[in-house]
Amino acid sequence: MALLTWSYASSVGVRAMDDQHGILIDTMNELRLAAVRGLGREQVSEILDRLIEFTRMHFWSEEQLMDQYGFPGLAEHRVEHRRILAQTLQSAHRVQHGEKMQMHPLLGFLRESYSEHIEGLDLQYGPWMNARGAD
Ligand SMILES: [Fe+2]
Ligand SMILES: [Fe+2]
Repeated sequence: MALLTWSYASSVGVRAMDDQHGILIDTMNELRLAAVRGLGREQVSEILDRLIEFTRMHFWSEEQLMDQYGFPGLAEHRVEHRRILAQTLQSAHRVQHGEKMQMHPLLGFLRESYSEHIEGLDLQYGPWMNARGAD
């Protein structure tokens, strides 16, 4: 596992969403740190629950915004959010209730899918919203 903390350089162009992405990444780093420190299941579970709750809130906010601005990619984006959330829940469940607490698959999945999503689909709504007055 890389020892660097995760970060991302891409701003989607809408401040509130950049802030929420920052909190998501911070929470994932917290999880990674918990793994490195060898924290127990209870503490890891608490961070995971927080990550899931925040993810739900963030996806909902984004979808609300896309709807508000009439962004044409909303339906596709929503499907992708549901897919990521379902996979996150599944992966988290394994860590929270599996026989052995294996953090690596979860951390790998989170890092890959969230950064791919932010740098892929999320980057698409920014220009549309900026052109219609969002900042
Ligand atoms: Fe996002
Ligand atoms: Fe998104």
